[in-house]
Amino acid sequence: MDAEAALARLAELRSQDAPTHGGRLLSYVYDSGRAEGCLGAAAARAGPAAPPVVRHQSCLLAVKTARDAWRARGGSGRPRLVAPTTVHAAFRKAAALLDLDLDLVPVDVATGRVAAAAMASRFGADVALAVVSAPSYPFAALDPVAEVAAAAQDAGVDLHVDACIGGFALAFWPAGDGAAPDGPWDFAVPGVTSLSADLHKYGYAPKGVSVLLQRGLDRQRRQWFATSAWPGYPVVNATLLGSKSAGPMAAAWAIASVLGVAGFGELTASMARSVARIAEAIGGIEGLVVVGEPVGPMVALAADEADPARRVDPHLWADAMRAYGFVVQGQPSSTQPDGTVLPATAHLTITPVTERVVVDLVAAMGAAADAVRGMSHLDGAAVAAGLLGGVDPSALAGLDADSAYGVLRAAGLLEPGALHAMAPVLALVEALPPSVVERLLVELLASALDR
Ligand SMILES: Cc1ncc(COP(=O)(O)O)c(C=O)c1O
Repeated sequence: MDAEAALARLAELRSQDAPTHGGRLLSYVYDSGRAEGCLGAAAARAGPAAPPVVRHQSCLLAVKTARDAWRARGGSGRPRLVAPTTVHAAFRKAAALLDLDLDLVPVDVATGRVAAAAMASRFGADVALAVVSAPSYPFAALDPVAEVAAAAQDAGVDLHVDACIGGFALAFWPAGDGAAPDGPWDFAVPGVTSLSADLHKYGYAPKGVSVLLQRGLDRQRRQWFATSAWPGYPVVNATLLGSKSAGPMAAAWAIASVLGVAGFGELTASMARSVARIAEAIGGIEGLVVVGEPVGPMVALAADEADPARRVDPHLWADAMRAYGFVVQGQPSSTQPDGTVLPATAHLTITPVTERVVVDLVAAMGAAADAVRGMSHLDGAAVAAGLLGGVDPSALAGLDADSAYGVLRAAGLLEPGALHAMAPVLALVEALPPSVVERLLVELLASALDR
C-alpha cells in the first residue's frame, strides 16, 4: 500500500468503531473535548526514545516493586496480595504474572465498599502488598483509605492506592459536592506507600501512560531493572517495558500543560454537574437505583428489586440505550468468596463531554427504562443450554484453539451482530464457570484477529 491508501484503510476501520468522541460512549474513553489536535501533534513531535519519567503499566509495576521490597525485608516463600473483590482486574493479572497469592476480601454488597477491619484481619508477615481503590471501577466506591492505611502501618504491610481511574478527577473534584471524596485518599494518609493514576484516563492522554508514585526514593529505585552482565550494552530500564514509545507521554505532557490546574478544575466541575444531573434523573426512574455512594465521575446502576413487576434490569436497559445512540457497559453479577452476591449493574463513565449530551442522555435513560421495565434478568443457564446444546460447559475450559472456535461458531457467536445485544452474553458470563468464559472470550477476540 502507498501511504495514502494505508491512511484511508485506517480511516475506514476507524469508522467501524464505537462512537468514541462526543460523549455517547460511556466507558473506556476519556474525552476532554479540548485541544484535540494537540494530542496527535505532540505525539508526532516526540523522539523515538522515552524519557524514564512516566511509567507504563503502573499496577503491574506497583506489585513488582512491593514484592521485591517485601523480599528485601526478609520475606520468603510465596507472598500474598490482599485486596477487595472490587479491585481492578489489573491486580489479578499482576498477581498471576508475578506469582503472588491473591487474597480477595468481600465488600459490602449494598455499598461496594470494603470494611477496613475485614482488610486488616488478613494482614500478616506473608503479605507483600495490600491494595485499595480510589475509587473502584465497578461501583465507584471509595475504599476507607485512612483506616486501612493505619492498620497496614501497624502490621508493617505496604499499601497501594489504585487511583488509576479516580486520581486526576478526585484531585480536582469540587469540595462539598455529593460525589466528592469524604476524606484524604493519597499520600496525605500516612501508611500509603504507593499510588497509581492513569494519565490516559482523566489526564486525557492517549492510551498507554500512567503514573506510579512511591513513598521514598529507595522504594522507587526497586522499580528499576539494570544489568551489565551480558555481552551487550548495559541495560537500565525504569519500567517493565524496555523499548517504548514516547508519543503518548509527549501527548500527556502537552494536554496537561495546555489545561493547567484551572483547565482540570473546569473539566472536573463539568463532570460533577453531569454526575449530579444523572443521579437526579435516576432518582426519578422507577425500578433503577444507584449502587452505594459513588465518588467521582462514575456511577453503577442496579435493578430496584422492591417491586419485581416494576424492576428495570440493568443489562436489558443497557442494550435498550443503544436505540438512543448511547453505549453503556453492562457488568455481570458475581459471587464473593463468602457467598454473598454483588448485583448485576450497568456502568456509566462520565467525562467532560458528557455535559454536551446530558439532556439527551437523561431522556434516553428514562425511555430505555420504560422499554424494559418489569422484564426479568436473563437466565444464563437457559441461554447456555440454548447456545451450547448438549455440550457440558465444564469440558470447555481446556479446549484447543480449533475446538474452542468450533464451539463459538456452533453457538452462533461469530455471526455479524451476534454480540450487539450484551444481555445474553453477560447472562452466559454469570452462568458459566469463569475458566470456561475466559477460554471462550480469548478465542472470540483472538480469532477475530487471526482467522
Ligand atoms: C480502578 C482502575 N485501576 C486500574 C486500571 C488499569 O487497567 P489496565 O490494566 O487496563 O491498564 C483501570 C482501568 O480501567 C481502573 O479503572
